[in-house]
Amino acid sequence: MTKNKLPFYKPRTDEKIIEEVADTIRSGWFTTGPKTKRFEKEIAKYVGIDHVLCVNAATSGLELMLRWFGIKEGDEVIVPVYTYCATANVVVRCGAKPVMVDIRDDFNIDVSKIKAAITEKTKVIIPVDIAGFPCDYDEIMELINKSEVKGKFKSETEEQEKLGRILVLSDAAHSFGGLFSENKIGSLTDITVFSFHAVKNLTTGEGGAICLNLPNQFDNAELYQIHNTNILHGQSSDALEKNKINKWNYDVKSAGYKFNMTDVQACFGLVELKRYEQENLPMRKSIFHNYDSAFTSFEWAQLPEYNTSSKSSSMHYYALRIKNISEDRRNQIIDLIFNQGINVNVHFKPLPMLTFYKNLGYKMNDFPVAYDNYCREISLPVYFDLTEEQQQQIIDAVISSVNEVI
Ligand SMILES: Cc1ncc(COP(=O)(O)O)c(C=O)c1O
Repeated sequence: MTKNKLPFYKPRTDEKIIEEVADTIRSGWFTTGPKTKRFEKEIAKYVGIDHVLCVNAATSGLELMLRWFGIKEGDEVIVPVYTYCATANVVVRCGAKPVMVDIRDDFNIDVSKIKAAITEKTKVIIPVDIAGFPCDYDEIMELINKSEVKGKFKSETEEQEKLGRILVLSDAAHSFGGLFSENKIGSLTDITVFSFHAVKNLTTGEGGAICLNLPNQFDNAELYQIHNTNILHGQSSDALEKNKINKWNYDVKSAGYKFNMTDVQACFGLVELKRYEQENLPMRKSIFHNYDSAFTSFEWAQLPEYNTSSKSSSMHYYALRIKNISEDRRNQIIDLIFNQGINVNVHFKPLPMLTFYKNLGYKMNDFPVAYDNYCREISLPVYFDLTEEQQQQIIDAVISSVNEVI
């Protein structure tokens, strides 16, 4: 077996990033400060909303929002069965039950199956834009606003009473820059959470952001302040504020979290965001086109959907599917690709295949579309520094490996 030479992901680390980080190091201010606050404003401008709060991970942002909405034991939260464990883990950590729903052929939650999953205990739906392809947000918003669905909703907290319906909390860990009907992901549902983990399109190493876009009965500016305090121990003034002359005094009114982003992390985000539309997304599109052109003539290849009349994907990774193949044979193909020095991946093992969720009683047989797509999926790398030559290496490795197995 040869050593892996081509990684599945590779964040950009050029002089612009090094210079921005060096600037922060020279400033002596490493934790949450001016750069994090600037990054929040830049994200808000990019997304087209007013209030964005940066956090240390998407997982933290999702949990913070569930807890704010009062999610607790006895509640149900609808999640797609096909997602990363974080989407469901946060629900479990709040003491609630993740209610899993099967997917459509585009890997996203099947909205036609959500209605049957809604009960009087349903408080939140967490749609996930798998691989960066937006969910059917018009259908989701229409469904939760239907009178019979609203009629089932039982408010138990002030926030739930104020909303008067199921909260839509988008897990947009993959879809920064995605578009739905010309609107940016982050501006489509009540709350959207991005991930800036190292593998993501736009990375801060670890990190995330919460887009607060709640309807008029909420004051998103006030919520920003509340959550901003809540992500730092519930402390009334942050480190930057306390560092000012004679501003040492503070109070704590709730036992908050330690979920804040640092200025060192924000440096990466500020540089990447500035060049996201002009450099990052076009490069991803070009890689997607090259993969499309290479695989389209093969009978065995099912190409991913990423651009339709109403949706544009952020093209996070290229989810190639092999037609009519079992999980075992797909795994053999992956081994052969790895043997050629190419690191590919599978997104995702559906939740009921993971021991924790299996032990809770979830059964893979109940989700046939997710299982079929999981068995046949191979995620191919997509990143800015992937050269044409490397793309060809990946294409050649995939074609030769598939041909050897089918
Ligand atoms: C769909 C999905 N949701 C949530 C997360 C969690 O993101 P983070 O690592 O920023 O907490 C991930 C991470 O890969 C993800 O893929």
